[in-house]
Amino acid sequence: MTISRSLPIILSSSLALLLLPGCPSDDGDTGADDSETNGDDVDTDSDTTAGIEVDDQMILDAVANYQSDFTLINAAPQASGAHAGGGIDVNIYVNPVAEDAYRAVDPDNLADASMPVGTIIVKEHLDGMGGVSASTVMYKAEAGYNPEFGDWWWGVGDLLGGSLNASGQNPGMCTGCHVSVSQSDYVYGVPAGNQTP
Ligand code: HEC
Repeated sequence: MTISRSLPIILSSSLALLLLPGCPSDDGDTGADDSETNGDDVDTDSDTTAGIEVDDQMILDAVANYQSDFTLINAAPQASGAHAGGGIDVNIYVNPVAEDAYRAVDPDNLADASMPVGTIIVKEHLDGMGGVSASTVMYKAEAGYNPEFGDWWWGVGDLLGGSLNASGQNPGMCTGCHVSVSQSDYVYGVPAGNQTP
């Protein structure tokens, strides 16, 4: 009885914590702008859920023939600095809309960059015997999908076998590393010296 009565209290206090961050900005106002309070409420809602959805099947369809539809960016298989523990080679393919912007990102000389909406990047993990053991995918959604991490959708799967698992909006296992290249829109790029013509 005691436990079941205390539960709602825990819930409502954590709800208060969730709502709290919206309040201090109102405190900073002079108070002259009553109408801004309403505006802030609207902003808080849209920050929480932008309502932009990504259709996982659309991405799977788009990557169905990535080896012929997309452009291979690296000239020679690239030693991965991190994926799968860093002991593997990778190939990186991008769809046509992304090619120019992606080629401009040089990990040896990182600069501000921004990938266009609709960008799809596939990174193959090579197994050392000419095969592909797995692939990771990044898809650039519309602004507002995932503003904290550049509006990227993340996935991993066996693309040649036709499967792709959505990691979705905010998979810590991906963003934990990729946030270190937020300056170049969360992509590492391929060194200019190892790019296909
Ligand atoms: C341990 C750090 C780390 C983790 C975790 C990680 N990545 Fe990466 N990612 C990298 C690095 C470093 C590169 C650059 C190429 C390389 O060295 O493999 C890269 C490259 C990529 C690329 C090629 C585009 C580019 O230039 O950034 C894609 C696509 C990608 N990662 C997707 C993902 C996805 C999806 C996940 C989560 C399932 C993920 N990564 C998790 C470090 C990481």
